[in-house]
Amino acid sequence: MDEKLVINYQRFDNIDQLEASDKELSLAAIDALKGSYAPYSNFHVGAALRLKDGRIVKGSNQENAAYPSGLCAERTAMFAANANYPGVPQTSIAIVSTYHDGTIPGNPATPCGSCRQVMAEFQKLAGENMSVILIGGKMVLKFEKVDDILPFIFDSLD
Ligand code: THU
Repeated sequence: MDEKLVINYQRFDNIDQLEASDKELSLAAIDALKGSYAPYSNFHVGAALRLKDGRIVKGSNQENAAYPSGLCAERTAMFAANANYPGVPQTSIAIVSTYHDGTIPGNPATPCGSCRQVMAEFQKLAGENMSVILIGGKMVLKFEKVDDILPFIFDSLD
């Protein structure tokens, strides 16, 4: 039997169109770009994570001369949040990238598969949806849950 999977998301022109808490999180992601250490790719990524208690935890990509030793902005934020505030649910993540000249690409960069998998696990641990906000220069996308950017999530916790 043929079936279809529908992915829901919202598209905005810019972060000013987001609700206030999402705009605040997006501005934090942009601010997180300051912490990016990306001398090898020159591709800077900032992420900001909203915790259930309202707290915002920032992350940015961290590279290394031994390339595989680096880590994406999203996982830096999620792992830092759970290391510092264990068990506090992670409810939303905003992500932005810039080229080496500091400009934000018109279309938002989308998280790599490994980061989506880690989001899926923290969403499961949270017991509620983690929304994902992808910030581009000409387009901002909001997904209400990780399932919408990672269909057929692998989940071994059960
Ligand atoms: N990067 C992220 O930080 N997040 C992603 O989702 C994709 C890629 C980083 C890793 C590396 O530092 C640089 O972008 C180029 O791949």
